[in-house]
Amino acid sequence: MDKTKRAAIIAGNWKMNKTPSETTALIQEMKPLVAGADCKVVLCVPFVDLDAALKAAEGSNIGIGAENCHFEKSGAFTGEVSAVMLKEMGVEYVIIGHSERRQYFGETDVTVNKRVKAALAEGLKVILCVGETLEQREQGITAELVAMQTKIALLGVSAEDAANVIIAYEPVWAIGTGKTATSDQAEEVCAIIRKVVAEIYSPAVADAMTIQYGGSMNAKNADELLSKVNVDGGLIGGASLKAEDFSIIVKAANK
Ligand code: 13P
Repeated sequence: MDKTKRAAIIAGNWKMNKTPSETTALIQEMKPLVAGADCKVVLCVPFVDLDAALKAAEGSNIGIGAENCHFEKSGAFTGEVSAVMLKEMGVEYVIIGHSERRQYFGETDVTVNKRVKAALAEGLKVILCVGETLEQREQGITAELVAMQTKIALLGVSAEDAANVIIAYEPVWAIGTGKTATSDQAEEVCAIIRKVVAEIYSPAVADAMTIQYGGSMNAKNADELLSKVNVDGGLIGGASLKAEDFSIIVKAANK
C-alpha cells in the first residue's frame, strides 16, 4: 500500500463550540500556524459559524466544512440544513454520520447513506464517520460493524463519487474521553475499512481513499497515529479548538 497516493487530511470538528465572532478569531489565529502545510487542512464548524469561517479562511489553505446536512434539497424539515444550501454558501466539506448524530439524534446507517448521497450529488466532499462502541469492541464485532457501516453508507455511491469520500474511523469509546486507540488499533481498523472499500469498488479506489482516525487525537499522540500506513489523517474534536495544538497535529501529518 503506497501512502503517497493519498492526500493526508487533518480536519477539525468543532462540534457545538464557538460563536461566529469566536470563529473569526480562532481561524485568524490558526491561519499563519497552518500556512504552507503539505496536508489538507479542514475545519468543520456549526452551521451558524459557516459564514464567518468562510470569510476568515478566504485566500488561505483552510477548507471549510459543515457537521451534518439533510438528505432532501428543501422542504418541511424544521431545524435541518440541506446540501444545496451548504454548496451555495461555498462550503466544501460535510461530516456525515458522526457517532454523536447516531447516538443523540437518531441517525441510522440508512439515513447516513441518504445524507452521503445528497451531499455528493451537490459536489460536497463527505467525511463519513464509522466506529464501534466499547461494548461492541469487547464483543469482538468491531470489524464486522465498521464493514457494515461502511457498506451501507456507500450503497449506491459510484466509484467516481467515492473519490469525494473521506472515511473517518472514530471508535466511540475514544471520543472526548482522552482514551486514544493505540496506533496499532487505529491501523488495524483503518486497514479493514480500506479492504472493504476495495471489495465494494476496486483496489485502486481503496488505495486513493483518505482514511482518518478520530478520537482524542492530540498534539502529543498525533505523530505516532499518523505514522501508520493506513492512517491518512485525523478528525479532531477537542484539540481543534486550540490553534497551537491543532497546528502541531497538522505539522505531524506533513512528515
Ligand atoms: P475528540 O478529539 O474530542 O475526542 O473528538 C473526536 C471526534 O469526535 C471528531 O469528530
